[in-house]
Amino acid sequence: MRELSDNIMDIAQNSISAGASLTQVHVIVSHADNLITFIFRDNGCGMSEEMVKSVTEPFTTTRRTRKVGLGLPLLQQTAMMTGGEMSITSQLGVGTEVKASFGLDHIDRPPMGDVAGAWFSLVLMNPDTDFLFTYDYDGKLFTFDTREVREAVAPLPLNQMEIAAWIKDCLQSEINELHGGNIS
Ligand SMILES: Nc1ncnc2c1ncn2[C@@H]1O[C@H](COP(=O)(O)OP(=O)(O)OP(=O)(O)O)[C@@H](O)[C@H]1O
Ligand SMILES: [Mg+2]
Repeated sequence: MRELSDNIMDIAQNSISAGASLTQVHVIVSHADNLITFIFRDNGCGMSEEMVKSVTEPFTTTRRTRKVGLGLPLLQQTAMMTGGEMSITSQLGVGTEVKASFGLDHIDRPPMGDVAGAWFSLVLMNPDTDFLFTYDYDGKLFTFDTREVREAVAPLPLNQMEIAAWIKDCLQSEINELHGGNIS
């Protein structure tokens, strides 16, 4: 993965696969803490303790012996190589929270990439489930809740052409406004 935002699609898609009706994706940029943090929270099927352990065991162990994929190990690897960390909190039948932090000024930190684009793709690909997106840039906050948009445009679907175009514009311009459009 070349950009941090590539992880967003991947990890949030796990929530969709887990049957979540609401998936939250929070992006926090803090120059004071010198950290970028991603938090994914869902109300999907959750994971057993063993499952959580098997996806968070050090990525140096033989990956081939695991039945799991690459999304979470890759996120963990990126977090750790930038001086950050990843953690998973999950409860079967309740949901899952995945938290990953990255050293903001770490030389190995991949660029942020296109967060708005990743969020937009999630909505477009999963128009029947809901998302709560927040972007906290040094305390300046942007929130986007598809439940509100859904209510406002009902009975039209979120992937209807004009609505999708509006969502894309909204995400892009609001995020640009937060950080002046030039975060790397
Ligand atoms: N939010 C979640 N809720 C429930 N189970 C999850 C969640 N995220 C991950 N898992 C479980 O952990 C496994 C590993 O996830 P990971 O993203 O690392 O790989 P994958 O989704 O199986 O494959 P890939 O992402 O490489 O296509 C998943 O197959 C799933 O069983
Ligand atoms: Mg996955």
